[in-house]
This record gives sequence, structure tokens and C-alpha cells, in this order.
Amino acid sequence: SITHVILTGGVGSRLWPLSRKSRPKQYLDIFDGRSLFELTVNRNRDIATKIMVVGNIDNCHLSKAILNKTNTNYVDIIESTPRNTAAAIAFAAFGSAADDILIVTPSDHIIDNMASYKQAISQATDMASQGYIVTFGIVPTKPEIGYGYIERKGDDVISFREKPNQVTAADFIAKGNFLWNSGMFCFKAAVFLEELKLYAPAVYEKSKIAWEKSVNGIVDLEASLEIPSISVDYAVMEKSKKIKVVASEFVWSDLGSFESVYDYLVTIGHPVDKHRNMVIGTDKYTAFIGMKDTIFIYTDTAHLILQKEFSQDVKSLYGTLEREI
Ligand code: GDD
Ligand code: MG
Repeated sequence: SITHVILTGGVGSRLWPLSRKSRPKQYLDIFDGRSLFELTVNRNRDIATKIMVVGNIDNCHLSKAILNKTNTNYVDIIESTPRNTAAAIAFAAFGSAADDILIVTPSDHIIDNMASYKQAISQATDMASQGYIVTFGIVPTKPEIGYGYIERKGDDVISFREKPNQVTAADFIAKGNFLWNSGMFCFKAAVFLEELKLYAPAVYEKSKIAWEKSVNGIVDLEASLEIPSISVDYAVMEKSKKIKVVASEFVWSDLGSFESVYDYLVTIGHPVDKHRNMVIGTDKYTAFIGMKDTIFIYTDTAHLILQKEFSQDVKSLYGTLEREI
């Protein structure tokens, strides 16, 4: 059977003040009146026979509200403390049968063009049933350093390189046979666990202990603190020799920074003025004088005025706030 595993761990600090600890970006109703979380749940509804939500104890009531509203049955895996994606995915795999095929996706991405999405998923589940770990590759448009890169020949993966530096990323783009890793994966539960055990044995062992000590779907806190905090990209994808890639044609954005939110909003017709300035979060009349490529983010309790090219600096600003405003 096919299970859709939804990861919903992040705070989305690079989108502060739109995204808050108390309401991370995947729960905001800002995209067509629906949240990204709800769009994610709907996306695999007709393929997956089961939904598993792996998320933080602070957020699980937000997931629950959406899943109840849409009458969705799901298995809830609640992390007492976030231990990064290798562990989060391990919990889902421990909670599955060996041969179950897992489609693991974040809950905070935009995907458009359902026909090509479905085609990519169907190719991926085929390869996963043959014992591969399948990634979804996106044609890169710039040397973005926040992504993983997949070096490929057809659907074979030559290497997987998580978050290269600027020079290396530019080199990858120039070479032409690299795709961005979308952050979605597809594999048999047992295959993932075998590879995790082989390449990140401490994550495997400690996650297993924490998982086995779960009570009412809540993974044990004390045992969780022992799990090395490492992403699945570094723990498994960079190392495994069973990785395949489906070159994907669907429209994809991880809305990972205000720059990518801006780019996406432009594609759906959100207004910008003649110097490409944009307002997010209010219909109040706002004027820009002497500025270009500036984003004004308006919320009830905090405002941010940001030059687009500095979008990656929001995370460090967030880190300096004494309390979340
Ligand atoms: N449940 C749970 N627990 N989810 C988590 C945790 C955790 O401890 N940590 C992260 N997540 C969720 C995040 O909410 C996000 O949806 C997803 O897992 C990926 O984590 P990010 O922290 O956003 O990763 P990234 O953006 O740095 O990099 C990943 O995504 C890129 C594409 O967006 C990598 O897979 C890159 O290779 C990829 O290019
Ligand atoms: Mg991300």
C-alpha cells in the first residue's frame, strides 16, 4: 500500500513576520484561502491509501484542525522535540510495514500542474517498488545555495550534493546535468531503514529506541534528545547507492524565503509597482518612493521592510528577536 508521509516540523523563520512559531507558514490561509498544509493533504488523496503526519507537539493541533475539517483519517506521529528530517522519516518508516511505499513530502511547498505531478509520482512509486530511493528533480534556474543538487544521467543519480557553496552551485548549473532536489522522496519503508542503518547507524538506533517508547503517538522526549539532529539529505541521500531521480516538470516552489514567495506571487498575478515593489498582507494603500525590489510585509503585530536580495537575512534577524513578536 502507498502512504503519504507529511513532514510538518518547521517554524519557517525565514518568512517572519508572516510565519510564526505559533502558526508556521504551512498553516496560513494565504494561498487562495487554503493553507499549504491542506493543499498538501489533497495532493495525494487519490494515490495514497494512508496519511501519516509527522510533526511537532506544538503544531499538532493545527494539523488536526485541518484534517478534521476535511474528514481525513490519518496516523499522527508527534515529536516531543524536533530532531530533523532523518529521524522524522525514520519514525514514519518504523510505523509502517516493510513493503509499504512511502511518499514523503514537506507540507509547505507550492506545486502546480497536477497532471505532471501525478505522472512523476507514478514513475516514482514504480521505481520505489523495485527497491530504489527516489528523489524528484527540478530544473534549476539559478545557483541557489539553499538546495540539494542531484547530478544525474537519465534517472540514475551520479551524486547528491546538499547545499553547495555559491561557486560550486554555479559550476553545477554550468555543467547542465544537475537538478535541484525538491525535498520529496519515495521508497519502501524497509529500504529506507536499511540505508539509514548503513549510513547513519546512530540515527537509526536512537530513533528506534525513541519510537518504541512512544506513548499515544508521542515519541519519547528523553530518548529523542539522544538522536543526532541531521537532515535526511546528509544522512542518506548523499551516501546511498540506491538513489534514483524523476526529472519533474511540475511547477515547484518551496517558498523558502521572501524572494521565492515574491517570485511565486508574481507568477499568479499579485501586483507590483513600476519599480517592482510589492506589498504582502494588506490591501491598505501603500506607496514606495525611491525604492525598488522592496517587499513590505504587513501583519497585525509586526511589519518588515525588506530589499528582496537580502531575503536570506530574515532568518538571522529572527534569531536576534528576544521574543517572537
Ligand atoms: N516533522 C519534522 N521534524 N519535520 C521537519 C523537521 C523535524 O525535525 N525538520 C524539518 N522538517 C520539515 C520542514 O518543515 C520542511 O517542510 C522539510 O522538513 C524540509 O526541511 P527544511 O529545513 O525546510 O530543509 P531545507 O529547505 O533546508 O532543505 C531541504 O529541502 C530543499 C527543498 O526545499 C533539502 O531536502 C534540500 O535538499 C532541498 O533542496
Ligand atoms: Mg525548506
